[in-house]
Amino acid sequence: MKKLIDKFCETKKLNKDELHALLEISHKDREYLSQRAREISIKTFGNKIYLRGLIEISCFCKNDCYYCGLRRSNKNAERYRLTPEEILSCADKGHELGFRTFVLQGGEDAWYTDDIVCSIVEKIKTKYDDCAVTLSLGEKSYESYKRYYDSGADRYLLRHETADEAHYSKLHPSEMSLDNRKRCLYDLKEIGYQVGCGIMVGSPWQTEATIYEDIRFMKDLRPHMIGIGPFIHHKDTPFAEFENGSTYTTLVLLSILRIMFPKVLLPATTALGTADPMGREKGILAGANVLMPNLSPVSVRKKYSLYDNKICTGEEAAECKNCLERRINSIGYEVDSSRGDYPDFRREKHERN
Ligand code: 5AD
Ligand code: FES
Repeated sequence: MKKLIDKFCETKKLNKDELHALLEISHKDREYLSQRAREISIKTFGNKIYLRGLIEISCFCKNDCYYCGLRRSNKNAERYRLTPEEILSCADKGHELGFRTFVLQGGEDAWYTDDIVCSIVEKIKTKYDDCAVTLSLGEKSYESYKRYYDSGADRYLLRHETADEAHYSKLHPSEMSLDNRKRCLYDLKEIGYQVGCGIMVGSPWQTEATIYEDIRFMKDLRPHMIGIGPFIHHKDTPFAEFENGSTYTTLVLLSILRIMFPKVLLPATTALGTADPMGREKGILAGANVLMPNLSPVSVRKKYSLYDNKICTGEEAAECKNCLERRINSIGYEVDSSRGDYPDFRREKHERN
């Protein structure tokens, strides 16, 4: 196994058998895989972990994804949306706490017209020209993405969820398509965003074959960020009875992704911290280099319920940041609140033009 891992670190390539072997890896060998991934992360980013302030702007969603607690058919969900003023005040608080990246994430909520999104982005970027704005608002047209970009948005997160056609259609109702999801991601890249894709680990019907497709897709897309976390069932969704994804496999995949994409921005997600109380620390030790503390007003946090038992829903922004900082320091890392762009981003942009 050590040989396989060493070869993988050199070639950054995996065939199906090698992926199979890694997904079945023993504890002892996983320790070695983690160590190799961690070394790469440290070589690129030092012992610094980038912090992103997450603002969950709305839990209204027009979509009906079977796994998600915010799906429109969930009649038990308590819905909220933040006004532009409330979003700006979260950014103010975040800036004061030192954050230099704000992630505006929400369901696909038509209340936020393009004009409104652009005006929020412009206001944040004008007030804080040292900050990056990341949007995570779902599938939009090329024109909308372009308008957000021209207003100053720097990055966009849109998990592809699975790159396997049949699997995609088991996770989503028929009005959604993998083609459109991919179209969005390639549009975002073309426009010039730093782009993030990603999957849930252990989502219902995920197999080694679908994970192999995910890796192939990522090699083609060449994302700047990859968000992965375990699937965690939500009681008011059609997937309520499915088993949660495993922390173990999530950690193995984080290491695989770190080795394949040495410079990618790779968060240890809230879902990982929910599945395992030490999940985020373990994620960092497996090669992750980003954490996203919650900046949403405490009054709405519980309502942004993608899955059951989500952590960090009772804490003020400052508490959440301090808690994460303590956790990071305890494993020998330090927080870095700077913008934390993708390492070669400017050059990549320059080369394209
Ligand atoms: N478990 C884990 N992650 C989930 N997401 C949505 N529902 C769940 C769930 N039940 C993730 C999806 C989505 C992101 C915003 O949250 O991958 O893209
Ligand atoms: Fe949010 Fe600990 S990380 S409260």
